[in-house]
Amino acid sequence: MTEKTLRTGAITEAADHLRQRLGERSPNVAIVLGSGLGQLAHAVEDSLTISYEEIPGFPSVDVAGHAGELICGKLEGVTVLLQCGRFHLYEGHDPRTVVLPVRVFAEIGIETLIVTNAAGGIRRTLTPPALMLIADHINLTSRYPLIGPVVEGEERFPDMSRPYDDELRTIAREAATNQGISLDEGVYVGLLGPSYETPAEVRMLDRIGADAVGMSTVPEVITARARGMRVLGISTIANQAAGISPTPLSHTEVLEAGKAVAEKLEAIVREVVRRIS
Ligand code: HPA
Repeated sequence: MTEKTLRTGAITEAADHLRQRLGERSPNVAIVLGSGLGQLAHAVEDSLTISYEEIPGFPSVDVAGHAGELICGKLEGVTVLLQCGRFHLYEGHDPRTVVLPVRVFAEIGIETLIVTNAAGGIRRTLTPPALMLIADHINLTSRYPLIGPVVEGEERFPDMSRPYDDELRTIAREAATNQGISLDEGVYVGLLGPSYETPAEVRMLDRIGADAVGMSTVPEVITARARGMRVLGISTIANQAAGISPTPLSHTEVLEAGKAVAEKLEAIVREVVRRIS
């Protein structure tokens, strides 16, 4: 079996399982929940939970604050699929595993991907806990999910000039304004991790144009764009990045900041989902 058929097979197998479990439910939007943002899972109604353990090719998740399940249900009357727990490069996962959920979502017909994450604020005005609409990203993970034979349904050289959809960003900004929520906007830089950055690294990231730094999202967004999905990204600014923050960084702080803005994030996501349906 060639590498290509092997990979395409993994996507198809997981997608077939998901389709069978979803039955009549047909989500058009998938929402990836980042660290400390799992609360949104309780907001969906009439929900069906599918554990990663039962999906072929999906490994289990082992980071505190991340579950390992997909939840399909209604948000604002719209059928959505929530990804609770992602596969990070820093856990040692192959980039192709990290993006397997996105490919499976595309395979079952999902056209819009909403990604959320926790990030450290590099821009001084991003005071945690805050929300930042992702305008663009920089891939400094030193990994790339599309390397290898082209997977069916993807392009060899996908355009990345508009990674985050203009219309979705406009709707998110309007949703924030309507609800009196402050929503910053900026560039997310994705690093491999798992250590947080040094102050010198943060100064470098600032100079190259990054506003917030994290350890996820970039591989998923590259893949979503390769599949032609529309993407909206929102970061929770959980802490000020190293060297800016007067205190050492901790994962506990990240989770708590996530909880602090979860309601606001939920309000924005709800309005976006309602308006794009
Ligand atoms: N750096 C990288 N990843 C992060 C941070 C950070 O400061 N905060 C939350 N995730």
